[in-house]
Amino acid sequence: MIQVGSTNQQAGGSRFVYIAAAISALGGMLFGYDTGVISSAILFIKKQFMLSSTMEEIVLSSVLIGAVIGAVIGGRLTDRFGRRKCIIATSIIFTVGALAGASMAQNVPWLIIGRIIIGVAIGIASFTVPLYISEVAPVKIRGKLVGFNQLAVTVGIVVSYLVGYALSRFAWGWRGMFACAAIPALILGLGMFRMPSSPRWLISRGFVDKARAVLKRIRGTDAIDDEVRDIQEGLKQQSGSLKELLSPLLKPALVVGIGLAISQQVTGINTVIYYAPIIFQFAGFKSVSSAILATVGVGVVNVLMTIVGLHLVDRVGRRPLLLIGLAGMSLSLIALGMAFNMSTQSHMLGWIAAISLMCYVAFFAIGMGPVFWLLISEIYPLRIRGAAMSVATFFNWGFNLVIGITFLTLIKILGRPETFWLYGGLSIGTWFFVYFLVPETKGRSLEEIEAHWQAGKHPRAMGKL
Ligand code: BGC
Repeated sequence: MIQVGSTNQQAGGSRFVYIAAAISALGGMLFGYDTGVISSAILFIKKQFMLSSTMEEIVLSSVLIGAVIGAVIGGRLTDRFGRRKCIIATSIIFTVGALAGASMAQNVPWLIIGRIIIGVAIGIASFTVPLYISEVAPVKIRGKLVGFNQLAVTVGIVVSYLVGYALSRFAWGWRGMFACAAIPALILGLGMFRMPSSPRWLISRGFVDKARAVLKRIRGTDAIDDEVRDIQEGLKQQSGSLKELLSPLLKPALVVGIGLAISQQVTGINTVIYYAPIIFQFAGFKSVSSAILATVGVGVVNVLMTIVGLHLVDRVGRRPLLLIGLAGMSLSLIALGMAFNMSTQSHMLGWIAAISLMCYVAFFAIGMGPVFWLLISEIYPLRIRGAAMSVATFFNWGFNLVIGITFLTLIKILGRPETFWLYGGLSIGTWFFVYFLVPETKGRSLEEIEAHWQAGKHPRAMGKL
């Protein structure tokens, strides 16, 4: 039987675990940087290559297409070759994509291929990093440690805005913007080289002695027998086939993962992350520089509120953060729509719009931002964890792409207020989805979560184990 809260898992992590989480989270930083940097780079690329608006959209979305591909191919790879090796592989792809691909591009197809390659690395890293961290983290601080990844994503976005701003004076600036990503990519690769493999993955592949050595090192104690036994017990009940995900016992986990993946995107976060300067201009910020400054403000709020979320996630739990976050996002989107419904002559429009947008991002940052990636790293059985996460990640990037390419069209067809109300309505729908279907994983070991599904219990009963 799986013991509830084995002592060694209850203990706080050794410093080593923090280092492993921080280094692997550089993968998250690259995710944020490489998705954010295009908003500045595109202004130059457009001029240099004289892009039509269709070509501009293709260049913009090529990274997302790559991420969808990465999400699909990454799952089996992480289960087969291990989380650590996959993260090292992404660091190589990130570096090659940044240097030989995007920053040296002499023509548009070269640039697009470079961005697709970077996207593939993003797609793989986006779920492999939270997966790796959740498998090395002790139960008590797992939420916070996995959240380092989301924090790194938000820092990467702000850094990309700042680098974009700093290099915008130079005609070659866009090349520099892409090339800068090679620095964290190299540190990620070199750092991960020195980090251990995930002990859970090692056990799932039969390397029990190696796993024991890793656990002793990362837990800072020799008392790791309970944890090893729990992991081995959990594995006995798994077939290792992805079909298992469709079995009635695991269907709730599949629905939760895919449902959250889609909702994280259709509630509109990336309309703000990718189009904030345009939204601020709609709201009456006349100069480009004031719109860009307000955008940096959005990025900073995203970082700060993610830190708040990380402090709370292991104390108040995942569900309350999601529910409070979604309620706040819904209200902020309704307010944003109302602001755009006001006369454009009104002085209040700019202020109400800016404040609503900041509140919206703040509520995303404490809930849907970190908690989606955390939950999908927790709810799947070990043998198919990588593959199952890649399914959810595929939906996340797929809908990211859909929202990115439809936003401006929706504004044209529906109008500004109605578009934001649509995202608001979808946020309200997601609130109910979370309320009825999403489990509370706080304080549960990954093996306890697996045992819960195997016992055929309802997701909501999990917090009450
Ligand atoms: C989402 C991204 C988003 C970012 C913003 C992530 O959790 O998956 O799509 O751009 O948060 O902070």
